[in-house]
Amino acid sequence: MKKVLVTGALGQIGSELVMHMRNIYGNDNIIASGRKKPEGAIAETGPFEMVDVRNPQEIADAIKKHKADSIVHLAAILSATGEKNPAAAWDVNMNGLYNVLEVARENNCAVCTPSSIAVFGPSTPKDNTPQETIMRPTTMYGVTKVAGELLCDYYHSKYNVDTRGVRFPGIISNATLPGGGTTDYAVHIYYEALKKKKYTCFLDKGTYMDMMYMPDALNAIVDLMEADASKLIDRNAFNVTAMSFDPEEIAAEIKKHIPEFQMDYDIDQDIQQIANSWPNSLDDSAAREQWGWSPKYDLSAMTQDMLDELSKKLNLQYK
Ligand code: NAD
Ligand code: SER
Repeated sequence: MKKVLVTGALGQIGSELVMHMRNIYGNDNIIASGRKKPEGAIAETGPFEMVDVRNPQEIADAIKKHKADSIVHLAAILSATGEKNPAAAWDVNMNGLYNVLEVARENNCAVCTPSSIAVFGPSTPKDNTPQETIMRPTTMYGVTKVAGELLCDYYHSKYNVDTRGVRFPGIISNATLPGGGTTDYAVHIYYEALKKKKYTCFLDKGTYMDMMYMPDALNAIVDLMEADASKLIDRNAFNVTAMSFDPEEIAAEIKKHIPEFQMDYDIDQDIQQIANSWPNSLDDSAAREQWGWSPKYDLSAMTQDMLDELSKKLNLQYK
């Protein structure tokens, strides 16, 4: 049975991953952590520790107090926020990861931390982007994610720390809003479709990016952590994807359920530039071959579920 410290546990992924892992491993075995006191289910169902990942002592204290053997490291500054404050993105993403890896080395913990499609840049092949290819990102977030993958590789090869990680695409979910990424439009569009039957998109039509629904993302993390180490040729940089679409395609899918839905565009040039530098679609065959990655949700199934779940949460009928 694992005992896992989750950093950044109150964010978009952490808030759902903690509950998912508590269901699998038991409430007391998943220690959520973050920089502010939680409310609701995370606080009520299991342990929580205040941990700022820039402070290695806080990470070490939480690991020792709970005798944790694994860390899922989610604390980070994402792409759009990172471009507004590159120094903060460097500080949290690089020093935070270094601290997590050092504490893991000293306490014999495994580390699983997500990388991102942001590792790629404008010179990367755009379609069916290979896992091993040109990686010259043009955002601070992307720079920290490439460096983070290499740092995890280093801790595995030099110190034998069991490091693992996927390159997530845009994650779409209905529990916690995303924290300032380039792909966030694909979450906001569902909220606005239900609330106002219209949405103004900050990315242009034709902007294709990889995406994934949260249930598949949660499975990706758990399945990779549980994967047989002897089958892993790669470790910290698995391409994973579930779908690729542009704003027109997700709007058309929503219109099948809400025929009066309308979308217009007001392009944010800074975020558009980031999106333009990322792939249209990824090749995730290594994850499929090495640890059985197989997403369940495509755009159609995700849209049905997003609208059903959000309409319950917002108490808004759409049928
Ligand atoms: P998020 O922004 O929703 O959550 C990150 C959490 O980290 C927030 O609660 C934030 O308060 C916390 N945090 C920030 N600085 C911290 C610090 N110094 N100490 C402790 N906590 C701190 O992000 P997310 O979407 O949940 O992302 C989790 C991980 O997954 C990140 O590594 C991110 O790069 C990666 N990822 C996410 C996506 C996505 O679409 N959500 C896609 C690719 C990769
Ligand atoms: N969804 C993330 C972002 O847009 C990808 O890492 O920043």
